[in-house]
Amino acid sequence: MCGIVGYIGPKQAPSILVEGLKKLEYRGYDSAGISVLNGSIQVKKAKGRLAVLEEKLMAEPLEGNLGIGHTRWATHGKPSDENAHPHTEQSGNFVVVHNGIIENYLTLKEELIQKGHQFVSETDTEVIAHLLSDLFDGDLISTVRKAVAKMSGAYALGIIYKNEPDKLVAVRLASPLIIGLGKGENFLASDIPAILEHTRDVIILNDGEMAILTQDSVQVTTLTGENLQREPLKVDWDIETAEKGGYDHFMLKEIYEQPKAFRNTMGSRIDSQSGKVVFPELQLTKDEIQQVDRLYIVACGTAYHAGLIGKNIIEQLLRIPVEVEVASEYRYKNPIINERTMVMVISQSGETADTLAALRESQRLGAKVFAITNVVGSSVAREADQVIYTWAGPEIAVASTKAYTSQLIALYLFAIYLAQELGTQDSALLQQLVEELVKLPEKAEQILANTEEIKQFAEGIKEKEHLFFIGRGLDYAVSLEGSLKLKEISYIHSEAYAAGELKHGTLALIEENIPVIALATQESLLDKTVSNITEVKARGAKVLGIAYEDNTEIGKSVDQVITIPRTHPLLSPALSVIPLQLLAYYTSLARGNDVDKPRNLAKSVTVE
Ligand code: G6P
Repeated sequence: MCGIVGYIGPKQAPSILVEGLKKLEYRGYDSAGISVLNGSIQVKKAKGRLAVLEEKLMAEPLEGNLGIGHTRWATHGKPSDENAHPHTEQSGNFVVVHNGIIENYLTLKEELIQKGHQFVSETDTEVIAHLLSDLFDGDLISTVRKAVAKMSGAYALGIIYKNEPDKLVAVRLASPLIIGLGKGENFLASDIPAILEHTRDVIILNDGEMAILTQDSVQVTTLTGENLQREPLKVDWDIETAEKGGYDHFMLKEIYEQPKAFRNTMGSRIDSQSGKVVFPELQLTKDEIQQVDRLYIVACGTAYHAGLIGKNIIEQLLRIPVEVEVASEYRYKNPIINERTMVMVISQSGETADTLAALRESQRLGAKVFAITNVVGSSVAREADQVIYTWAGPEIAVASTKAYTSQLIALYLFAIYLAQELGTQDSALLQQLVEELVKLPEKAEQILANTEEIKQFAEGIKEKEHLFFIGRGLDYAVSLEGSLKLKEISYIHSEAYAAGELKHGTLALIEENIPVIALATQESLLDKTVSNITEVKARGAKVLGIAYEDNTEIGKSVDQVITIPRTHPLLSPALSVIPLQLLAYYTSLARGNDVDKPRNLAKSVTVE
């Protein structure tokens, strides 16, 4: 996600801004820029790493004591010099950095174009600079308030106006923003690490607050102008802890970010009036959907496991056969593709070499490729014919968590959307699925609030060498992901089996005290799963069940139960995987492993 830094004081702003941005690199970015006021507004920005911007600044240094800086993680428009922040407008009076999304930017942009404004980027941010200039009433603060009243969305802003060189303005609506209080200088940032080198006195802006920074003062107000008294807090974290938002590891932070990621993925794709799923970004006619008689889902690792859930959902809702393929196999198998085949690739990073090759091979064979990815402007996003972004925010830990669950949400939305368009399911069922989807973030929060039992179970298995996951239907698909998570970061050998398949061979491995994790959320298959649990218990296994909280029976069949809130059975994977992610995390921790950077693995595998 984008990072913002701002400075007002007696020192040279450029180096403070660039150093601050370096501390926000963990947020992920694809371009960077700074702007300073020195009589006029001056801007330097560049696609790529901060080093590229630094080179530009070496060649043509900027000077000034008031400035804003930004690292951009592309949302509207590809990563490029033009789309990088800060953004100005044609009069050169206003400069803006922005994190978040201005949802009504297209309407605003059209209005501004009609009034003669000329835009140079594809971003929603540039609209803000033009809007400020359009609404200017002679006073920066009241103009900002007028502009904010016209914008909808979730955002954080840093704003400078050429003719009021003693002010730096900050606005927060849903995207994070903090103020650092110095002596004779003040700072603005998306996150605490950016300013820790200069001060430990911090005001964390709340949603709907604005701050006016001068060299010697910080005034916090509401968006409509009432003054607020905000007590600063003293930060005693070190920089590394601060980058992780106070969590011990990025993986834990990302696990806890899942409710927010769910909300972002759903975002404006659920129409609040009609309750229907909409995909404004897709160009897909009903006729084209009707043509499809087979779908391939192609991906690697965790994304492949998301594909397995997608298969189940799409087959259930659309009654179209779906094949899920590991990309490294698919690319060489001469896949059967004709004009009625749809191909979907799933990739968090959008850079996985095998997935990219599968995409290209599909296109070579004549297929149109849909992509689900998290990274705007990634190779997969650029090359696919149509893209669905997951909007989960950057994922840093190697073991994927929030990217997986947001891929599931994207797949649910896509499947419901297709079923809606084709009328393959009763609208009441689709309506129910949408209603249940919307409740998932809160239910995920409920799971995350109660982790004691998972920690205890992790302690109990930390010395084990082998472990099994079992489940049926969607529970089996989730078992595969739970098992992969555990292997990746705990290094314990584990295997996931379709519960009914265990007795055809692998049951031979079940012996006294071997841990088995049984997923039991699919009610129509519950009796069958319980029979399989009984089979492993009879051979001495210690069974942990994952079941709905109102399932009072399961406790009789297993040694320990971890519960999740009830949801529609098709949606349960988005919840049931969370305890498994936490189990992998706490087991890895208990074994003293490097949780975020497990041995032998890489976040993005760009080689075959
Ligand atoms: C690597 C990562 C996995 C990830 C896989 C696919 O192996 O370690 O966590 O699932 O690549 O990555 P992608 O970015 O394509 O989803």
